[in-house]
Amino acid sequence: MQTFIEKMPKAELHVHLEGTLEPEMSFALAAKNGVSLKHDTPESLIAAYDFVDLSSFLAIYYQAMHVLVDEDDFYQLCYAYLKKASSQNTVYAELFFDPQAHTSRGVSFDTVISGIHKAQLDAEKDLGIKSQLILCFLRDMSAESAMEHLTLAAPYLDWLVGVGLDSDERNNPPIKFAEVFAKAKRMGLKLTMHCDVNQLNTLDHIEQCVNLIEVDRIDHGVNSLESKMLCELIAQKQLGLTVCPVSNQFVVQSLTVNEIKSMLEQDMLVTINSDDPAYFRAYLNENLYALQEVGNFNKAEIVTLVGNAFKVAWIDDAQKADYLTQLNHYVQQH
Ligand code: ADE
Ligand code: ZN
Repeated sequence: MQTFIEKMPKAELHVHLEGTLEPEMSFALAAKNGVSLKHDTPESLIAAYDFVDLSSFLAIYYQAMHVLVDEDDFYQLCYAYLKKASSQNTVYAELFFDPQAHTSRGVSFDTVISGIHKAQLDAEKDLGIKSQLILCFLRDMSAESAMEHLTLAAPYLDWLVGVGLDSDERNNPPIKFAEVFAKAKRMGLKLTMHCDVNQLNTLDHIEQCVNLIEVDRIDHGVNSLESKMLCELIAQKQLGLTVCPVSNQFVVQSLTVNEIKSMLEQDMLVTINSDDPAYFRAYLNENLYALQEVGNFNKAEIVTLVGNAFKVAWIDDAQKADYLTQLNHYVQQH
């Protein structure tokens, strides 16, 4: 089964580029940019990754970003992720990035997006992996700041496929960003938002995403299972859910295997993703291995999960059909 998963053509729809910053790269960039780190070695840094909830993870995640300073740093970050993903036979990826986490430190929007964009072009040319970019707003910052960053993004619209919403969900409901997301939609961007697992008022947040913001996908969204009405709406609107099992295990001490099975049973378009693989020490393949081992997912279930990612990817119908044909060929041969 591991070889079957490893060699399968796959898509990843929920990965934060800043969450792919491996400790070795942190140390190299820190030395280059004269940034001091709290730890002496990559190993001791990893040993300090003892997240127990979303807040404890986010504190370490934002602190680590200080090593990213110039365009080439963002290039290296993105190229390294795409190389790793390609080595795992991920053929298509949609990448989140958090511009406010950089502009707030004095790094320009242009620096961030130009480095990432160049890496996307080079990785496609060198490795054949295709990718698109999703600008995430930090929900613990103001709606005005989000709007300012949407304005900053306007000249780069061709480099973006959508907008998302991440960071600390407490007291930061989707409705806070209704105007920004409405404007992004008018600009032709796709919409998604995080509804992290077991957050305060999660069912209200999921309902706002579906009915008020009218998102195209939901990131995580596992708690929707607590509401029959929400499950039916999500299935009927064919909204993709980008679930991240190993990330969930860190934050809520469960791989949410039963929840993922239940979503499959209800024909909800659930997909498997890595979220912040450098921190949770698991890329897409390791997330799928964990599901298979712990949840006894069979081949057909794994194929459905991987197929769902191509179905709810933000690509045109012809591209979807191509990827799904590639997946079907693979399954028939194995
Ligand atoms: N930023 C990076 N990863 C995140 C997650 N899982 N939830 C919220 N914000 C994030
Ligand atoms: Zn996430």
